[in-house]
Amino acid sequence: MRVLAVCGSLRPSSSTRSALAVALAAAGQRGAEVGWVDISGLPWCDGRAVDAYGPRVDAFRAEVASADALLLGSPEYHGSFTGVLKNALDLCGPEDLRGKLIGLVATARGDAGAMNTLNHLRQVSRWVGAWVLPAQVSVPRAADAFDALGQARREGLGEELALLGTELVRYGRLLAADGAV
Ligand SMILES: Cc1cc2nc3c(=O)[nH]c(=O)nc-3n(C[C@H](O)[C@H](O)[C@H](O)COP(=O)(O)O)c2cc1C
Repeated sequence: MRVLAVCGSLRPSSSTRSALAVALAAAGQRGAEVGWVDISGLPWCDGRAVDAYGPRVDAFRAEVASADALLLGSPEYHGSFTGVLKNALDLCGPEDLRGKLIGLVATARGDAGAMNTLNHLRQVSRWVGAWVLPAQVSVPRAADAFDALGQARREGLGEELALLGTELVRYGRLLAADGAV
């Protein structure tokens, strides 16, 4: 079981990345091989065939293809997920995400959290034929949700993220056993 995280924030001190890292570590503890898919430096999707962009996109798509399950994380930007993450998803071919298991994490500055971001990510994930876990994590007031070491500061948040990583491995194994991923 290979679980890779995709962070929709390119900020060096990204709270979304911290949230993903907690979930990813739990997936690793559950026995998955874990890592990150880097989406920085991808070209803009301009509508050409996805295999015509060259080596950067080829490498990105190969990383996605190598994953059994993906953790997608994004900050809420103006009520939705970030443009860089949408661009990365748009650079995937029609079959690249089909049948993959996906877990969702989103962060927001506000008290209301990032439910719109999660819903929009769920909608796009369903559109590309992925299986999206019912469990998901919204992190409100993200600026102070993690300490400098990336540990969750808020009661229950670390456990919620860890459960998402654990469930990703659990259900990923069920799909793999059935030959679906
Ligand atoms: C362009 C932009 C739009 C944003 N829109 C929202 C928003 O609609 N709601 C909200 O709560 N926070 C919004 N934020 C704040 C981010 O969601 C928040 O700072 C997030 O935790 C940043 O994630 P990061 O630390 O992973 O980069 C916005 C930030 C930016 C840069």
